[in-house]
Amino acid sequence: MELRAGQVAVVTGAASGIGLALARRFAAEGLAVVLADVEDGALEKAAAGLRAGGAAVHARVVDVGVREQVVALADDVYDRFGAVHVLCNNAGVGSGAEGHLWEHDPNDWKWAFEVNVWGVFHGIQAFVPRMLAGGDEGHVVNTSSGDGGIAPLPTASVYAVTKAAVVTMTESLYAHLRAEHARVGASVLFPGPHMLRTGLWESHRNRPDRYAKSRPRRTPYRSLGQWETAMREAGHEVDFTPVEEVAGHVVDGIRADRFWMLPESENSDRQIRARSRSMLERANPSYLESFILD
Ligand SMILES: NC(=O)c1ccc[n+]([C@@H]2O[C@H](COP(=O)([O-])OP(=O)(O)OC[C@H]3O[C@@H](n4cnc5c(N)ncnc54)[C@H](O)[C@@H]3O)[C@@H](O)[C@H]2O)c1
Repeated sequence: MELRAGQVAVVTGAASGIGLALARRFAAEGLAVVLADVEDGALEKAAAGLRAGGAAVHARVVDVGVREQVVALADDVYDRFGAVHVLCNNAGVGSGAEGHLWEHDPNDWKWAFEVNVWGVFHGIQAFVPRMLAGGDEGHVVNTSSGDGGIAPLPTASVYAVTKAAVVTMTESLYAHLRAEHARVGASVLFPGPHMLRTGLWESHRNRPDRYAKSRPRRTPYRSLGQWETAMREAGHEVDFTPVEEVAGHVVDGIRADRFWMLPESENSDRQIRARSRSMLERANPSYLESFILD
């Protein structure tokens, strides 16, 4: 679809990281941007920065895991702007789960699923019927991850399961939109190809009390900086992809109606091949045997 001034983009998880980069890029393309996020201080700061740059901005505190709040967001946006052209269901969290699956705190699963899976579903339900009824061209971008979206990541298994769900949900959305000959497209985003310097490693800052850990963590949370130092000390190279590059990939992908927003990467391709081969050959997933938990 065309992206042009006067259109409206809604981005969840827009106060930080990839979401903020998406909002900035849409604003630079002339779109009005709606920033939705659960973290009010960061949200206000993000909105103020965009307004200072001349963008048309509306910010609203929303917990995407709570259906009523996402529906209220959609009501608010349609009252103000009358249309939505781009919807980025981007908000997401790392679960903070430790150890083996059978040792996990169920609240880690509930919280991660509420934000990463239900949050995307709530966005689809609240916005897509109105986008279709509006009759304009539109696009929905759901943020997955190579971790789970491409292949399981046993060291972050809960997160990976939620991100696998986002891929399958978006494939279903695509099929349903095509079956209706809709003017609304759908894409699944795999940010990368490298690591990103975002707040994802500090996801616990937004963890709600209703999903508090039922027992303390055995090990403290590790920051991105600590992880990076440890990797470098162990002799590994660590590359980062700028969030602006991810936003550029999304804008190009919307313009090209590209379902798989999957950057070129030998590493991703290797994982896809290994997993596909294992399934096609009915062979056990030996590519998962080298993972060691912390
Ligand atoms: N950082 C990476 O390396 C990476 C890689 C692949 C995928 N992703 C995905 O990209 C997306 C954006 O993450 P990021 O890396 O920019 O991290 P981030 O923490 O910088 O941004 C996530 C934003 O989501 C918001 N958020 C958290 N819970 C929310 C809720 N319940 N309702 C509304 N907003 C909520 C946070 O406040 C934050 O502003 C996530 O879906 C994440 O899983 C990130």
